[in-house]
Amino acid sequence: MPEKPIAIASDHGGFELKTLLIEELKALGHQVLDLGCHSLDSVDYPDYAATLAAALADGRSDRGVILCGTGIGISIAANRYAHVRAALCHNGLTARLARQHNDANVLALGGRILGSELAKDCLREFLATPFEGGRHARRVAKLAASVDQREKV
Ligand code: RB5
Repeated sequence: MPEKPIAIASDHGGFELKTLLIEELKALGHQVLDLGCHSLDSVDYPDYAATLAAALADGRSDRGVILCGTGIGISIAANRYAHVRAALCHNGLTARLARQHNDANVLALGGRILGSELAKDCLREFLATPFEGGRHARRVAKLAASVDQREKV
């Protein structure tokens, strides 16, 4: 079965880095599902987190990349969807560990924070690194079980 495309979405703060990472994804041989935004015009990052979460939920993609200015807002927004494990990464090491330990299915990056080489390094590590499983699988399962804990705190 052919590999599903990598979904990618950003607000205006991540638009320029998204454009660069789409080229990198293609250079690495991946299909890309570009979910916008498509210009530097100001938009709201929760809308793009929702669009990417939908693409993962309906099976168009299994892995995604999201960007806003800092990566913070869009990662908070994306992690409100129970099937999303978005990791805000700042270098190749954090991206690798997000896969090995957290089975992150979404890489979050700050378009106004990271230089292009650092961002490409994050992307390569995120795509190339498998989940380690073992004790980490138990912890990831607890994430899925803790979607709404308000009544227990
Ligand atoms: C938009 O100006 C900016 O607030 C947004 O891209 C992001 O950094 C929010 O977390």
